[in-house]
Amino acid sequence: FDDRKNSFGPNIEIDSDWTPFKAKIDAFMGQDTQWRAFPIVGGEKVTTGQTHSIKSPYDHSQTAGQIDWADAATVTKAIDLAEAAFPAWSARPATERADCLDKMADLMEENYAELMALCHREAGKTIQDSIDEVREAVDFCRYYAQQARSHFANPTHYKDFLGQDKQAKLNGRGVFTCISPWNFPLAIFTGQVVAALVVGNTVVAKPAEQTSLIAFRAIEMLHQAGVPTDVLHLLPGDGATVGAPLTSDKRIAGLAFTGSTGTAQLINRTLAARGVAPVPVIAETGGQNAMLVDSTSLPEQVVRDAVRSAFASAGQRCSALRVLFVQADIADRVIPMIKGAMAEQSVGLPYLHSTDVGPVIDKKAQKMLLDHIEHMTKESKLIAQAELPDFAKNGTFVAPTAFEISSIDQLTDEKFGPILHVVRYKARDLDKIIDTINNSGFGLTMGVHSRNETTCARIASRARVGNLYINRDQVGAVVGVQPFGGQGLSGTGPKAGGPHYLQRFAIEQDL
Ligand code: NAD
Ligand code: ALA
Repeated sequence: FDDRKNSFGPNIEIDSDWTPFKAKIDAFMGQDTQWRAFPIVGGEKVTTGQTHSIKSPYDHSQTAGQIDWADAATVTKAIDLAEAAFPAWSARPATERADCLDKMADLMEENYAELMALCHREAGKTIQDSIDEVREAVDFCRYYAQQARSHFANPTHYKDFLGQDKQAKLNGRGVFTCISPWNFPLAIFTGQVVAALVVGNTVVAKPAEQTSLIAFRAIEMLHQAGVPTDVLHLLPGDGATVGAPLTSDKRIAGLAFTGSTGTAQLINRTLAARGVAPVPVIAETGGQNAMLVDSTSLPEQVVRDAVRSAFASAGQRCSALRVLFVQADIADRVIPMIKGAMAEQSVGLPYLHSTDVGPVIDKKAQKMLLDHIEHMTKESKLIAQAELPDFAKNGTFVAPTAFEISSIDQLTDEKFGPILHVVRYKARDLDKIIDTINNSGFGLTMGVHSRNETTCARIASRARVGNLYINRDQVGAVVGVQPFGGQGLSGTGPKAGGPHYLQRFAIEQDL
């Protein structure tokens, strides 16, 4: 059993014969390939005149393409059309809607080279991250199609106490807003949208402003896959101009959001202020993720998993490790090994095989991270900082950095990038440490390294997190194998890529 490869996605592996794949991707890597994207409403590309260039995070002299942002009239028109399209779409058999998802999965596999090039050029994703991105998007489509066929195609039969038959069916709720982040610009964008659609909702989708080009291609493919053009609309733009009206409109019947905790809280307030019936909100948000390492663990394995969890994807995963707790008895062995492993991390251009860590998404993210590094350099002890190459100044790179700190309480919020904090703890304080982690209010991922089963069970029963990983890294949840989602400040659940996710998009009606 290998949880890195699941049964749903394409098996493009970085260590297979890569040459033919790479050649196809490289055909999209030149500046002569520029994507031009627009809001898509009723299948029409809308020219709003509010045109924004998307710069490649690894080199700001290069652009990936241009996108027009939606304006207020475009948002209103999209919701009008989506509302009118709902009765016919929700009346279609779930199996037909599931067929569209399987077709979408096929289209993404056929177009993997273009999609991976977009991951490099628009989002700065490395080769491995781009493979994972396309594969996860494909997995979401195939998995939710399978789930819809099993649970939405036929009514559920109940028998009451008089022996009478009763039937109920899971249906769509109406117009769903889907709002997604830039760090999984294809996978999370597609996952939210297809989940809402397959249940029978119509969708207005807002991708992150940094990564709208790949979202535009995904919507084109979904229409090609058979989703009617009046059912699904793309509304690119920023949070204030496009996101806010998509949450304040009284006709929105449900909302799926992935992004920061602060934005989720704002969205909740906006939805409530509408003064209409409450609607389901599926919010997947940030984390302050810890790994707990005790003295029975294997230091080499700990370091490999901690370094991957903290620095892969330039630390720009909600699941990424932020605080590594090492039992004091082995800290003097583990910390120098972390330093050694960090010296081996290669920060570089995302489309090269040699690169472990690519750029962060934009200048705002870079500044926030550099400010944090400056602050921590004064407040704590620097363990190590990886080298940045000369060309780093052309883009938004941040050197992977590790600090030793005294407590998780030194961190007030999520620092979304390649910065690791290490805390030494005494064995007798383990419960207290778990309580401090819980007290942060976040509850997304946690890693545990221990060969003591009692310790693993004790941590598992006390920790309040969505995803707990034992003796491995804590990033890269696989659809259908490791359903993903947090609790508390980290999200509402149900877990994406799991068997209970679709139900939250639906309403159960008696027949
Ligand atoms: P963000 O909250 O800044 O933006 C997310 C989306 O919300 C974007 O599309 C943005 O335009 C939109 N938005 C912003 N203001 C809005 C408003 N007022 N109304 C409606 N929409 C608005 O987050 P981000 O920086 O794009 O993403 C990074 C964050 O996402 C991190 O906190 C990370 O932990 C989190 N994340 C969580 C998960 C998860 O599954 N838990 C997965 C990926 C990312
Ligand atoms: N699902 C993503 C991961 O596990 C966020 O890393």
